[in-house]
Amino acid sequence: MFDTHSGAGKYQFEETTMAQNKEFESGISKLESISQTRSSLLNNYLSIVKPFYDESSYPGSPLISQSLLRENDTLHLMELHPAEFDKLQHVMKRRSGCHLHKRDGFEGLLALTPPRPNRGAVLIDPPYERFQEYQDVSRTLKKMFGHWEQGIVVIWYPLLSARAGKKHGASEVMYEVLGDLAKTSFVAELVVEDASDDNGMYGSGVCVLNPPWQLDEHLSSALDELTTVMGDDVTSSLRWLKREGE
Ligand SMILES: C[S@@+](CC[C@H](N)C(=O)[O-])C[C@H]1O[C@@H](n2cnc3c(N)ncnc32)[C@H](O)[C@@H]1O
Repeated sequence: MFDTHSGAGKYQFEETTMAQNKEFESGISKLESISQTRSSLLNNYLSIVKPFYDESSYPGSPLISQSLLRENDTLHLMELHPAEFDKLQHVMKRRSGCHLHKRDGFEGLLALTPPRPNRGAVLIDPPYERFQEYQDVSRTLKKMFGHWEQGIVVIWYPLLSARAGKKHGASEVMYEVLGDLAKTSFVAELVVEDASDDNGMYGSGVCVLNPPWQLDEHLSSALDELTTVMGDDVTSSLRWLKREGE
């Protein structure tokens, strides 16, 4: 498993940015009250997140992935920012199966793939602070599929309103390009605000390339349950970009 933009590994609710933005109040806090769900995917996620929530923190992608590793699995965590990398090192200390790399995630992904044996998954979760990052994602994956066509890839992207200027619509352009790189691909989105309210980021999505069998069904059930808990205005969707044989 490859995580190209790993971040700090764990986030405390009282840390300055978390406390200021209070994103957890409209996100994970709403799910905290759920005891049992119909979706197995959501149940697994909640059982991983709950112990952290109980100590006022949220696990980042490295901790979530690490908790799912099987005995012979390896997790490659890449993070470029020195301060974030130091935090990541501290959080992942003594956790088995992890290799930490203080390097550019795009360059690192190309250098570390294909894995041996030739199976694995990639998470790409950039900050998209620079417009160039949308193109970095497509350029890197085009190269990666040149030497590792079986890779399963999940790319997170923001849904941005017109207020975001040049970045408005950039995710949509990016995933149309990405969708063509693999044999199969879909996008799944969660919309939490009205796009016309000029709120900047009104939702987010993931583009999944070479998805495992039935992931679309599991993800759709999880999203259906999530939207009912998160509020009347919250909606979700899943759309195939390319299916087998098309
Ligand atoms: C959105 S955060 C990642 C969050 C993380 N995936 C999680 O779920 O907790 C993006 C991270 O990418 C790092 N970053 C930015 N550009 C990078 C690059 N080219 N290579 C590796 N890391 C980068 C930033 O320092 C930041 O920590």
